Amino acid sequence: MSHLRAILLVGGGGGVPCPRPVAQGLQPSVQDRTVNWKSMTESKKTPARPTLKAVRGTRDLLPDQTPLWNHVEATARALFARYGFGEIRTPIFETTELFARGVGEETDIVSKEMFTWEDRARAASEKAQSLTLRPESTAGVVRAYIEHKLGETGQLQKLYYIGPQFRRERPQRGRYRQFWQIGAEVIGPQSSGSESPLRDAEILEMLASLLDELGIRDWRLELNSVGSSEDRVRYNTALREALAPIKHQLCEDNQRRADTNPLRVLDSKDEADQDLINALPKIADYLGPESKAHFDQVLAALDACGVPYHLNPRLVRGLDYYTRTTFEFTVTTGLGTQNALLGGGRYDGLSEMLGGPKAPGIGFAIGEDRLILTLQAQAEADAALSGATIPPAKLDAYIAPLTPAQNPAALALARELRTAGLSVEVGDGSFKLRKSFDIADTLARHIILLGEDEVSTNTATVKTFATGQQTKLEQNLLSGLLSQPHPSKHDDA
Ligand code: HAM
Repeated sequence: MSHLRAILLVGGGGGVPCPRPVAQGLQPSVQDRTVNWKSMTESKKTPARPTLKAVRGTRDLLPDQTPLWNHVEATARALFARYGFGEIRTPIFETTELFARGVGEETDIVSKEMFTWEDRARAASEKAQSLTLRPESTAGVVRAYIEHKLGETGQLQKLYYIGPQFRRERPQRGRYRQFWQIGAEVIGPQSSGSESPLRDAEILEMLASLLDELGIRDWRLELNSVGSSEDRVRYNTALREALAPIKHQLCEDNQRRADTNPLRVLDSKDEADQDLINALPKIADYLGPESKAHFDQVLAALDACGVPYHLNPRLVRGLDYYTRTTFEFTVTTGLGTQNALLGGGRYDGLSEMLGGPKAPGIGFAIGEDRLILTLQAQAEADAALSGATIPPAKLDAYIAPLTPAQNPAALALARELRTAGLSVEVGDGSFKLRKSFDIADTLARHIILLGEDEVSTNTATVKTFATGQQTKLEQNLLSGLLSQPHPSKHDDA
C-alpha cells in the first residue's frame, strides 16, 4: 500500500490513535473511509460530490498574480534594509489574552472579528487554552520583544514582518478574512530614543518613499495625535459629557460606543451621525504641552523632508493601544470604500499593558492585498488611457525533444541552463513539431530543438521567435545566446 494511500485510509497514524472527530458525522470512521476510498476508485456509480471551494473571505493567489506580490515584498524588504530594519517572524496564532489585553476588549477586532478556539488540554496536568489566529501583528511583536528581553540590549529594535492576518469581517473588495500585511515596529527603552518624534517622522518618510518607489501615485497621508494616556482621560471625560445629551440621536452602534469607548464614535462611518460627530470636542484641544510639542516636532520633521500630510482630528484608529501620533495612508484609485492602504501609530504603553518593561514604540501595517489592488487598478487605468496591454513575461527557452529518446538529454540541458540562471520549460512529451512550436511561441522567447543528431554532436537547434532566426550551435554557447537582451524584428533592419 502506498504511503499516500495509507494516509488517506487511516490518517497515517502508524500506531498513533486518530484524533476524535470534532463533530459527529463530519469525519467518517476508519472503516467508512476505507469503503469511500474503494468506492471512489472502483465504482462509477458513486454520485458526484459537491466541489470544495476556498472559504468565504479567503483567496488563492495563482502564478499569474504572485509575481506582483513578490515584487512588492522584495521592494519593501530592500527598502526596510536601507532603514536598518531586520525581519521578525512571529506565530500565526497566539493566546487570546494577548489580543484582549493588547488590542483592547472593546475594539471591533477583539469583540467581533477574531477566529478563536478553545485548545484542548493535552495532558491532565495542562489547562485548556483559548487561542486566536492573529488579527494583527503588533501585539505579537511586542510580546516577542518582552519574551526575548530585546529591551535589555539597550538598542532600538527596528523589526519588520510580512504575513497573513485573520479577521472575521464581512468580505468585500479590499476586505478579506485572511489578508496580508507588510508591517514594521520601532520599539526600545526610552534611552534608545524610541520616544523621539524623529522616529515618527522617519517611519512616515519611509512609507512615503516606499509608496513612491512602488509607483502608488495618489496616496494621501492623514495624521493626528491622540495624546498621552493622561490627555486621553481628560478628552474621554469631555467626549462623554458632549455625547450624553445627543446619544439618543446616534445609531445603535454609536450609542454603545458612547458608553463603552467614546473615542470609537469618532471612527464611525455612519452617514446620519456625521454632523453630530463633527461637532464633538477635538482631541487637539486636549493635548498636554508634552504631547503637543512632540506632535509639532513630528510635523516640522515631515515639512523638512517634504512629505505632505493632512491633519485629521477624527483619526483615532480602531485599536486601543495607540498614544500620540496616529496615521493612515489612503488612496483614491482601486479600493472604493476600503480606501485605507495602511495604518499605524505610536503605542508607548503597550509593552507595559502586556506585562513588559516601559518600551515606547511606533509602527504601521500596510494591507498588502489593498496595495496590490491599487497597483493593478492604476496599471489598468494607464493601459486603458494608452490603449496598451501588458504582455505576460516569457521564459528564456522551451526545449523540445524530438523523440522520447531525447528526453534524458532535454532534462539534462534544462538543468544546465537553469543552473546558469535561465528560465526554461521542457517539452510536453507529445513530440509533435508543429505543436511544440506553437506552445513555445506563447511561453518562451526561444525554442531549442533536440533531435538524435543534436544529442550525438552535443549541439542544439535554436529559433529566436522575435527575429525568426534559426541556428545550430554547440550547447555550451546556448546560455550566452539565450541571455542576450530581447531582440526585436526591427534590430535586423
Ligand atoms: P489596522 O489599521 O487594523 O492596523 O490594519 C492595517 C491595514 O491592514 C489597514 O489599513 C488595511 O489596509 C489592512 N487591513 C485591515 N483589515 C483588513 C481586511 N479585513 N482585509 C484586507 N486588508 C485589511 C493594524 O493592524 C496595526 N497592527 C498597525 C500598526 C502596526 N500599528 C502600529 N504598528
